[in-house]
Amino acid sequence: MDRLNGNKTYNLVTDPVCGMKVSSDSPFSFVHNQREYRFCSDKCRSLFQQEPELFLSMQNERQMLFEQERTRSLKKMADQITHEIRNPLTSIGGFARRILKNLPDDAPDREYMKRVIEDVERLEQMVNRIVRFESEQLTLEKTDLSALIQEIVDMFDVLLRGNRITLKLSLEELPEIFLDRAKMKSALSNIIKNAIEAMEGAERILTISTHLVSDEVLISISDTGKGIPTDKIKYIFDPFFTSKIYGPGLGLSFVKEVVQAHNGVIEVKSTPGRGTTFKVKIPAGKEARG
Ligand SMILES: Nc1ncnc2c1ncn2[C@@H]1O[C@H](COP(=O)(O)OP(=O)(O)O)[C@@H](O)[C@H]1O
Ligand SMILES: [Mg+2]
Repeated sequence: MDRLNGNKTYNLVTDPVCGMKVSSDSPFSFVHNQREYRFCSDKCRSLFQQEPELFLSMQNERQMLFEQERTRSLKKMADQITHEIRNPLTSIGGFARRILKNLPDDAPDREYMKRVIEDVERLEQMVNRIVRFESEQLTLEKTDLSALIQEIVDMFDVLLRGNRITLKLSLEELPEIFLDRAKMKSALSNIIKNAIEAMEGAERILTISTHLVSDEVLISISDTGKGIPTDKIKYIFDPFFTSKIYGPGLGLSFVKEVVQAHNGVIEVKSTPGRGTTFKVKIPAGKEARG
């Protein structure tokens, strides 16, 4: 429901053909220039009838442009905020450490100062993560993705054991493909870290597999965790979306950016209370193979 006109409340929906926001009660009531809207709508409709595939790909492209623009604006905002809070944080942390050093060992305020220092450090880490979120160019190298996943899994060994998680690995032999190893490693680690964080119940199984499906390498990462509520799933790739106390909700937006930079796609399926599966598909076309 959106309030657009005076005090009356209208249901706004997206026109399936034109993609413009219109009132579901009266499709033309909010378009400034109704003739223009009708013209545009008719054009779209006839394009849809004549060339449905072209029309749908145009629609996808528009959605992608919209998402890219939104991510760009959010990054710009994050950049400005981090820029503003970095210097004050450094001085708060610096002065707090100095005060703590000069406090007598039995001063009751020592505990409070320690809390201030810990919290400032956590905020500094968060700011650093946001700064690192800025994307750079890819550095592509011929990579055996199954071997890369084995490296990642080895890195998580201690955490998996500590959380009593059973790992089921099924890594196929794959053709080498060109990847930015560091970025892909970090992206897949983010998905695995989320999976580990989601598993709190008695059954804790992390299943990771790789397959070559026609010209694509498919990586599947499943957990038996708490799942994602149906009404939240559409937001999980948005920067700063998090359900955790100390998010910061940048993991999956980074993952999506890295996957898309490799011309890949990422999909998610989740059943609340049962678990979540992320599927990453990366083209392994002839030119990308070793
Ligand atoms: N495997 C998963 N199981 C359940 N929820 C998940 C999973 N992966 C992601 N999510 C949800 O998506 C949100 C965004 O994830 P992410 O971008 O990595 O940010 P963060 O981990 O900092 O919250 C998480 O807070 C969580 O709600
Ligand atoms: Mg995360």
